[in-house]
Amino acid sequence: MSLIRLAHVSDIHFGGEHVGAVAAAAERIAAEPLDLIVASGDLTQFGECAEFDAAKRWLESLPHARVFTPWNRYRQAFGEPSAGRYTKQGLTVVSLNSARGAQPRLNWSKGQVSARQARDAAAAIRTAPQGDLKIVSCHHPLEEITGGPMTAKVWGGGAAARAFAEAGADLVLSGHIHVPFVHAFPYANGRTQSVGAGTLSVRERGCPPSFNLIEADEAEIRVIALQFTGSHFEPMRTWAVSRFQT
Ligand SMILES: [Fe+2]
Repeated sequence: MSLIRLAHVSDIHFGGEHVGAVAAAAERIAAEPLDLIVASGDLTQFGECAEFDAAKRWLESLPHARVFTPWNRYRQAFGEPSAGRYTKQGLTVVSLNSARGAQPRLNWSKGQVSARQARDAAAAIRTAPQGDLKIVSCHHPLEEITGGPMTAKVWGGGAAARAFAEAGADLVLSGHIHVPFVHAFPYANGRTQSVGAGTLSVRERGCPPSFNLIEADEAEIRVIALQFTGSHFEPMRTWAVSRFQT
């Protein structure tokens, strides 16, 4: 497998975006040789049409743009999301919608993954070509991150994380808590990483606007969190994890 390179952005909240950071992120992303850009949700602040229009303009200005946020107004702005699966040589990405417009609990911003969603995504990962970088993308971290600024409390999240680890996923990408992180799920061989991207909005939660670059070769995956300095993005933290048992 040759080097795979992705940008992972999340929680831009158009309508409440950080204007400088969004412009600088577009510049940086355009300058990177990337295989794919993954946007893991909270594209807009209030889900208003004008916000989706702004999101669409921004994303369409990026090379290789691809988005995983299948909501109704998302559909109006972007068209039907393409079945939640993206493949190219050496790369398989499966998306699922962990957001719900209504739930039998007070806080609808929390997440949910149904048994069927988890089963379908795990099957897609399990049948991906051996050696592919295998990724699941959703909005909410499937399990809580120690020290995170807020919770996701994903119903069905632990079972889904276990299913994806057992299926051989390398990465589960998410956003929601507005800070970047990498944390191994404690399932299967312990090599499925939960990866969070920060926010490009003004809703900072103790961390400047940021997004992730992800690089993978046969031996290693590197996640580089880039933070906005006020004029450009520079590396804030890099995680390197081994892909295979040695
Ligand atoms: Fe958010």
